[in-house]
Amino acid sequence: MPSSTKAYALEQLEQSIISDKVCPELAAEATQLVFGDGDPNSDIVFIGEAPGKNEDKTGLPFVGAAGKFLDEMLATIDLKRSAVYITNIVKYRPPNNRDPLPAEKKAFLPYLQRQLEIIQPKLVIALGRHAANCFLPELRISEEHGKPKRLTLSFSQDRLTIVLLPLFHPAAALYNGSMRQTLIDDFSIIPEIINQISNPELVLRNSNYLTLF
Ligand code: URA
Repeated sequence: MPSSTKAYALEQLEQSIISDKVCPELAAEATQLVFGDGDPNSDIVFIGEAPGKNEDKTGLPFVGAAGKFLDEMLATIDLKRSAVYITNIVKYRPPNNRDPLPAEKKAFLPYLQRQLEIIQPKLVIALGRHAANCFLPELRISEEHGKPKRLTLSFSQDRLTIVLLPLFHPAAALYNGSMRQTLIDDFSIIPEIINQISNPELVLRNSNYLTLF
């Protein structure tokens, strides 16, 4: 799909969240929908949990403290934020920044899947357990962070093979010295993954298991 067509398809998808009235209680308390930001033609998609206060205000994902930390980490590997695509599972801010409820994650999952189907990324970076567990419900982020996995996603029409990289969530790592360093260290393997993305042997050498679903 050409990038302009992808952008159009994403706009349609964004509108459908509103017209389908997904999570009306969250929508009623939120300022606006925070759908996603960046290059829809990128091979790399970052997925967080849900918008916070600053994201709710601006309509953009990861623009608060966790977002600044994410930008800093992107800079360490020479990746511009505008060169990747960033989104969340849940696209309205949960009140008082509470964790998204299982029902809220479930309600938004088809839209996240469609977002990935449109973008067709090669590398999906799950920021935190909520995002990682969308793909691998049993995954323990404390054990699997920084270990890339090759997954095949099944959509209604087609399938997409991606590499999933689970990472700690930047908000959790921000004020926790050892977790922060672990996240920075895990981030540093991203360029290697990008270089080797088409080589299943090499990209999975860090991985414990291969999952197909
Ligand atoms: N945390 C998230 O998970 N997403 C955001 O957009 C901001 C903070």
